[in-house]
Amino acid sequence: MAQTLSTLAYLVASVLFIMALRGLSNPETSRQGNLYGMVGMGIAIAATLLKPGMGAGGIVLVLAGLAIGGTIGTLLAQRIQMTSLPQLVAAFHSLVGMAAVFVAAAAFYSPESFGIGYAGNIKAASLVEMSLGLAIGAITFSGSVIAFAKLDGRMSGSPILFKGQHMLNAALGALLLVLVIAFVATGSPILFWLIALLSFALGFLLIIPIGGADMPVVVSMLNSYSGWAAAGIGFTIGNLLLIVTGALVGASGAILSYIMCKGMNRSIINVLLGGFGSDSGAAAGPGAGTADRAPVKAGSPEDAAYIMKNAQKIIIVPGYGMAVAQAQQVVREMADLLKKEGAEISYAIHPVAGRMPGHMNVLLAEANVPYDEVHELEEINAEFADADVAYVIGANDVTNPAAKTDKTSAIYGMPILDVERAKTVFFVKRGMASGYAGVDNELFFRPNTMMLFGDAKKVTQQIVQSLQK
Ligand code: TAP
Repeated sequence: MAQTLSTLAYLVASVLFIMALRGLSNPETSRQGNLYGMVGMGIAIAATLLKPGMGAGGIVLVLAGLAIGGTIGTLLAQRIQMTSLPQLVAAFHSLVGMAAVFVAAAAFYSPESFGIGYAGNIKAASLVEMSLGLAIGAITFSGSVIAFAKLDGRMSGSPILFKGQHMLNAALGALLLVLVIAFVATGSPILFWLIALLSFALGFLLIIPIGGADMPVVVSMLNSYSGWAAAGIGFTIGNLLLIVTGALVGASGAILSYIMCKGMNRSIINVLLGGFGSDSGAAAGPGAGTADRAPVKAGSPEDAAYIMKNAQKIIIVPGYGMAVAQAQQVVREMADLLKKEGAEISYAIHPVAGRMPGHMNVLLAEANVPYDEVHELEEINAEFADADVAYVIGANDVTNPAAKTDKTSAIYGMPILDVERAKTVFFVKRGMASGYAGVDNELFFRPNTMMLFGDAKKVTQQIVQSLQK
């Protein structure tokens, strides 16, 4: 009876997790999606605690884990800046990978507790699942640690390349396969730990050649790996919920990586082979960088306020700099004032604007920007031709026409927002620094462009003040 109830509870939790993913696919329903996920997890934990055979010791351990993990998670979530979320996610994935390694070790050394045989005599199928969970978990752990270090600036974001790198990785991958086969045949503890060691090394070697610009794709891919590792371990210990949840995470992470690659017009193989991307464009004063050879037209917030007051159609293009400056709230205030002046306002969202999928949507939703004003690239790109103003705030690469014209450019092929077709283009940024891909943007020098140099929040606040006068 208790077993049936627990299976039923796991089923309900699985359905809630699917509904959570569905909800998270749209900003309007994302809060609800989060709630479904939390309720699902609550049910899963309660069902685990009430499982037959869960002694007092087990309950104390689960509750202690919950208290420690929950406290750390809550503190981190409260303190973390939105711009640091990608590295936080990478750090969390490393823990999922390590958890898979520990569960595999627990199942290997205490197979009776999991009903998969006896020490030295574990079912072959369980050994296969265990070794896959172990290998993917260890790769996820060391790969995520490198992704975290690169994203957090603790190591250079530049690709680390050496001769014969791909051959070495392929050879180590083949060796890993041989070790797994030998492990399944013998059940040897030495082979178990060799698989773990080799996988840790492989995770490290696979991620170091990937540049900073591709790191978000890598994080999403590691997210997918961590899901498959969990699913593998779920098979080993016969836990239905872990299999379902792992598969959901694995599949959604893979789909997300695909969407990001599509947004950048790169293939996943191209990303994984590495070598693209550099450190992010560092802050520089007006006139810094290679682009300062040509003159640019710089304006003041008052000039911008005057032009926008007289505009009928304004498209706001947010990018990474808006996130850094946390300017979303004041952008909405500016839009509200302009609407009162009779302007039509819309927001154009590029699929890879910012540093993570949906980055801009989340920020705009946080500032209560109406959803019907927010449009994806395909919906809005044709509208720039009719726009009086394109207000580009902290975006750079996603507007760069080099993606269409310069075959040698690192961003060649990426679809871009055609902001230059608007009558006037404002670029709000601190200086002439390039964006994440490290490519100069010739739009800064166009006659219909006016640079508004300064921090995105401060400049927009000054525009708001001018509009209120
Ligand atoms: P970027 O091209 O990175 O440009 C951001 C600009 O914001 C910089 O040029 C910077 O110039 C400016 N900036 C930084 N802090 C600022 C502040 N406080 N106030 C005002 N401006 C500030 O951003 P984007 O256009 O959003 O493009 C995103 C890039 O990330 C693309 O290359 C994309 O491929 C890459 N990427 C994104 C994702 C996802 S999923 N979003 C995934 C992988 C890669 P200054 O320093 O001169 O101010």
